[in-house]
Amino acid sequence: MNQILRPLFNKRNYSIMKNYINNKKYILLLMGFLGTSGVFAQGSGEGISNDAAMYIILGLVFLVALIVLGTAGILLSLLNTLTQRDAEKKAKEKGVEYVPEPSVWDKLNKFIPVEDEESLLTDHEYDGIRELDNHLPPWWLALFYITIVFGAIYIFGYHVGNWWPLQAQEYDNQMTAAAELKAQQVASGDVIDENSVTYNEDATFLGQGKRIYDMNCVACHSNDGGGSVGPNLTDNYWLHGGSIKEIFSSIKYGIPDKGMISWESSLSPEQLSQVSSYVYSLIGTTPANPKEAQGELVQAEGSVEAVVVESDSTVQEVADTTAVE
Ligand code: HEC
Repeated sequence: MNQILRPLFNKRNYSIMKNYINNKKYILLLMGFLGTSGVFAQGSGEGISNDAAMYIILGLVFLVALIVLGTAGILLSLLNTLTQRDAEKKAKEKGVEYVPEPSVWDKLNKFIPVEDEESLLTDHEYDGIRELDNHLPPWWLALFYITIVFGAIYIFGYHVGNWWPLQAQEYDNQMTAAAELKAQQVASGDVIDENSVTYNEDATFLGQGKRIYDMNCVACHSNDGGGSVGPNLTDNYWLHGGSIKEIFSSIKYGIPDKGMISWESSLSPEQLSQVSSYVYSLIGTTPANPKEAQGELVQAEGSVEAVVVESDSTVQEVADTTAVE
């Protein structure tokens, strides 16, 4: 250790190091940029889906790994240069010829220099063409042995010892686990879907709903729900039903062939219920530019609900017939 560190601190090496770092400053600058672009990406992370958040985090981890690797590489090659210079100097002092250590690359490939190729010649010859019996490079051999070990572990683990579940078994396990979780959530009332959602007029809850609405829905339903591409959400006329459950269902599943996308994958059940309640709270408000009424007049919450409760297929029917008009 001492031998490695000592040369780092003498004067000549200090100037070598400084030159070295100067040459590398563009690399450092680039790494700095990469780092900050990651930070910007995080700034707009509000309200994005879980998937996107995951990719951003993965990206950041990747960037950090890259930076760490880059730095390690630079330090390593710096250290290499220094130790090499030191060895050179020592060899000179002792008056012996300096023979550099083979590089990692050379070690991994075990190249035979062209001058020594004679030693690899096989004894046969066809029309003056002779053959070299080149050996396999160590890195290749290592990979080959690893695959053999991996194969053995795989066969024993999956097919002989049954240590781990096969794909089909794994799928079944996950399905069972998911079913259990769902049953648990339903039992504890945790899960919110079109059957269990209720209107919640709590101000913070509606506030959350408004945030989601402002972020995702304004483009098509306008900022006060008056409607533009999408229908007016403030009147009593509904294409797909005006109860909180039907509104929830319209938002969750969307009406894809009419330009209203499904929000199921980008909003959580809780967010869906927040934005549903917010939309529901808009009914009866007066928007600046109301779009003309579309769909059927929904008189009272109760009557619509009665239809929904009966069965899911009736809702579908109502939706289909009104959509044609
Ligand atoms: C790309 C445009 C667009 C966006 C964004 C959009 N919608 Fe819609 N929305 C529509 C259209 C178009 C319809 C009408 C579908 C039809 O004609 O059946 C609709 C219908 C609806 C309905 C049913 C209305 C009814 O009369 O039954 C609700 C509720 C609704 N949207 C809520 C939302 C909410 C909440 C968001 C944001 C999370 C949202 N929409 C985002 C275009 C959009």
